[in-house]
Amino acid sequence: MMFELKERDGLARICELTTRHGKVSTPALLPVVNPNYLTITPAEMRDRFGVQALITNSYIIKNTEELRVRALENGVHSVLCFDGTVMTDSGTFQDHVYGSRQIDPQEIVKFQADIGSDIGTILDVFSEPGFTKEEATRAVDVTVERAKAAMAVKGDMLLAGPVQGGLHGELRQRCAKELSALDMHVHPIGGVVPLLESYKYQDLVSVIVESKKGLDPSRPVHLFGAGHPMVFPLAVLLGCDMFDSASYAKYAREDRMMFSTGTRLLGDLRTLPCHCPMCSRTSVEELKQMSKMERTKRLAEHNLHTCLHEIEVVKNAIHEGSIWELVEMRARAHPMLLEALKALAKHKGFLERFEPASRRAAFFYCGPESYDRPTVTRYQERCYTRYRKPKTRVLVGFEEGAKPYSRTYKGAIDAVTRHVDASFIVASFFGPVPVELDEYYPIAQSVIPKEVDAEVKDKMLAVMENHAHGHGYPLALMWEGEGTLEFLQEMIPGSPGAFDLDKLRCRAVLDMQFGKGAGDILEGKKIELVKSQRTGKIRNVLINGLHALSMRASDGRFTLKLEGAKLLMEVLPPPHMRVVTEDEPADFARKGNNVFAKFVTECDPEIRPGDDVMVVNTKGELAAVGRTLMNREEMLAFKRGIAVRVKDSED
Ligand code: GUN
Ligand code: ZN
Repeated sequence: MMFELKERDGLARICELTTRHGKVSTPALLPVVNPNYLTITPAEMRDRFGVQALITNSYIIKNTEELRVRALENGVHSVLCFDGTVMTDSGTFQDHVYGSRQIDPQEIVKFQADIGSDIGTILDVFSEPGFTKEEATRAVDVTVERAKAAMAVKGDMLLAGPVQGGLHGELRQRCAKELSALDMHVHPIGGVVPLLESYKYQDLVSVIVESKKGLDPSRPVHLFGAGHPMVFPLAVLLGCDMFDSASYAKYAREDRMMFSTGTRLLGDLRTLPCHCPMCSRTSVEELKQMSKMERTKRLAEHNLHTCLHEIEVVKNAIHEGSIWELVEMRARAHPMLLEALKALAKHKGFLERFEPASRRAAFFYCGPESYDRPTVTRYQERCYTRYRKPKTRVLVGFEEGAKPYSRTYKGAIDAVTRHVDASFIVASFFGPVPVELDEYYPIAQSVIPKEVDAEVKDKMLAVMENHAHGHGYPLALMWEGEGTLEFLQEMIPGSPGAFDLDKLRCRAVLDMQFGKGAGDILEGKKIELVKSQRTGKIRNVLINGLHALSMRASDGRFTLKLEGAKLLMEVLPPPHMRVVTEDEPADFARKGNNVFAKFVTECDPEIRPGDDVMVVNTKGELAAVGRTLMNREEMLAFKRGIAVRVKDSED
């Protein structure tokens, strides 16, 4: 099976799934097609809606004589008149709801293979959120057992193994791990329909996160039964790739219209607040006067358009790096979504492992929850563990001000420096920011309102107070204008300082980006800076006459050149910032070719997507430098796709 990562924003990702019936770009919504009631036909879905994949229930086909015969004879694609990817479900949900227990787990998998399903599903055991640990354990054990048994009958059909375990995090993780160890292709997260129906999005977050923690990151994850656009952004943020739903049709039958921000009864609408092809050519009045059947069809069209549209919105957010902003905006649509958003704070540690080094889009403050994004936590942690303060005795702090800080406070910095050697920080939303880091992501690339929410103010204050206790400067004071200068002149005998913003910037960015000590590559060397004529920003850093680093204007981080990597190797011992590949692929990288995930044998666990790294062979010899698309666990799991995009190499 092929599942290839193309673009990402944290766990949210755009991938390409290849099946026998073509490619599916994910995130994807697979509309549920009930072959007994075709509200919208699969042919229409393909031609008018651009649907690449749909899902149908093999159990219904198997139990409807006429459908079964045709499906076994001509295949499920022919029955549905659809030549795209067809996924089939096994009847688990029906078995659970109607309690019939009449489906044979082996038979239903074999049947799916026999009718030519592209992705079949095992007969997992549905685990209710209310299940006790014992009940959920049984659901997990039987599900895993059936997954193993299904291997013998699946043929060359791709197989989906749903993660069960109710609300028991450790069971979800175990189920996910045991299924990942099998040669399966898709991992739905099952047992969540009751959570979706009762708006228990906070529990949904826990279930997805615990499942993801146990799953092989290279496998597509499907959220079973999620078909309301309201949950797509949140679920994608947590790493879900596929959705399925009958809601577009079910809601339509009840005269309910789906929107990305919620659901409305047609009867309550004055006009149609939508520009989909259906709504553009119809009015509320016309809809109300239609026959029930015609109206259901029209509303189903609108609902499907809305769902597919929201998937596109999500994809664009991943592309530009604004999935968090989208999730935080959408969370305002429903109080329970907001509650779920707040619950994400508990999982920052996990989310941070996939958090990109920087983003194309600026960090937009959307509300107090923005403070709990992994980007904020990472900045603070790195500042605390990686940043090395300059050796001055005096620290001068500034209140938050216009960006870039070094320009805003230039007058004050110069005035202080004329009198004494000092360092400078700004009390920012992200925590204490040394002025030399004012262009580093996300400091410059952020938009924060002047007045933040009170709870954020408190958190910011706590971080600054913590800094005040541990900064290590003999004298620290806040800048309060001329008075501060006079105070310093009285306190300390004058001798002009050596504050050199450029040099401090290079050193601080090296430490923050590559690890504590990376800045030492500048020590005792001849450093030349090439600056932009237009902006005055550092462009290139030459060390002993060799081009070692380039600074990106977009995120204030360095693009590593081979010469810079050679120096970093001397100050950062393995495994720091290294991606290890077998020797042959390393030689291939040496010639300027990208490094594919399947050739990666080891990787520094601190490496994040978007990091500039060193590609080395099994002997630890440098082959190339480049930018990662994955973190360690992904590089080791993915069998396809690029792990490191090579930017500079020897040959
Ligand atoms: N449809 C909705 N939920 C589930 C589930 O947990 N398992 C299966 N197989 N199908 C579902
Ligand atoms: Zn519409």
